Amino acid sequence: LSIDGKSYQFPVVTGTEDESAIDISNLRDQTGFITLDKGYKNTGATQSAITFLDGEQGILRYRGYSIEDLADKASFLEVAYLLIYGELPSQQQYQDFEHAVRTHTIVNEDMRKIFEGFPINAHPMGVLSSLVSAMSAFYPDSYNDKAPDKTETHIIRLLAKLPTIATWSYKKSQGHPINYPKNNLDYCSNFLHMMFALPVEEYTVDPVVADALNKLLILHADHEQNCSTSTVRLVGSSRANIYSSISAGINALWGPLHGGANQEVIEMLEDIKADGGDVKKYIDMAKNAKTSGFRLFGFGHRVYKNFDPRAKIIKKAADDVLSKLGVNDPILEIAKGLEEAALNDEYFIARKLYPNVDFYSGIIYRALGIPTNMFTVMFAIGRLPGWIAQWKEMREQKEPIGRPRQVYVGAQLREFVAM
Ligand code: MLT
Repeated sequence: LSIDGKSYQFPVVTGTEDESAIDISNLRDQTGFITLDKGYKNTGATQSAITFLDGEQGILRYRGYSIEDLADKASFLEVAYLLIYGELPSQQQYQDFEHAVRTHTIVNEDMRKIFEGFPINAHPMGVLSSLVSAMSAFYPDSYNDKAPDKTETHIIRLLAKLPTIATWSYKKSQGHPINYPKNNLDYCSNFLHMMFALPVEEYTVDPVVADALNKLLILHADHEQNCSTSTVRLVGSSRANIYSSISAGINALWGPLHGGANQEVIEMLEDIKADGGDVKKYIDMAKNAKTSGFRLFGFGHRVYKNFDPRAKIIKKAADDVLSKLGVNDPILEIAKGLEEAALNDEYFIARKLYPNVDFYSGIIYRALGIPTNMFTVMFAIGRLPGWIAQWKEMREQKEPIGRPRQVYVGAQLREFVAM
């Protein structure tokens, strides 16, 4: 076979009746022919029925439902159910699912002892990944697929306990006692209660805040084979338990090129504000990043070549939420100014650089009172059902252990000569 002017000898491919109709992608699967694709690390080999993404058209769907519809009409737990089990729940299924989650929100007091050992300034993502990993030690029936009938309980536990653990770090950073979950509240309101209720006064959840949080969590719930999700699948493919696999995903998400990006965006917007808010100047600096050293965070995406559909929804939500809450945050204006200047600039147009999901999300989190170092934790809470769904799918498809292939570029055989 000749590909790109070079001849290749392949082993016989069985089942091919018409040689002229040989499909190279098929051959790659069957013969081990590979090309170097640094970014994708062979994850193109993943088959999944969870999330559809069309980067050219700016389309994102969970199990066939558009992200626009879900963000507008669904609750986060409904979307979690959809991602994990493949269908939207009936009313009864939803009630049962929500009830199961409510009954698992409390975290073992011995895990508190581990938490208490962390310093007050520990990053909440470090705490979250450690405690999720510790859950595998607290629930030993998660090891080695010994009790597959317990998987459902582990899934519910993760969904239930992640928000509880996440709020511990915040409370500690404030010098406040932790709040136990209030299980008569819905998922988002319960999280807000654990974050913001103080022992001295009655706390009522603002429905505008709870709705905004619900939308943000849905928008982050899955995004096919991104860095953290393929990490979850890869770690889980060795039959590592679900807690260890999710903990690995949390660590992958933490990086500033992935979930940490919205924290970088807020810090960048703050710097621009402190420097007088001249967006044009920063757009010019972004175009000359090599000399200026300035990097425009929250723009461009590996797969979206047109626009990120989540960014559109988030931008509108930022406007709605800030005006409903009566918050006047000057960095929203700076963000919009940057977007407008970029979208009218040939450099950005030619490179198809548009705001991505991280560009406006931090502005909403700030308006909701969530501190910057918790942004990635919020992303993790949102992404959790996606990671679970991908882990479960990978197991159900009985995928073999993952092993990214490499293209060796090192030295040829050398003779060792003793010194
Ligand atoms: C995500 O939502 O995971 C990010 O947009 C990153 C990605 O998809 O690669």
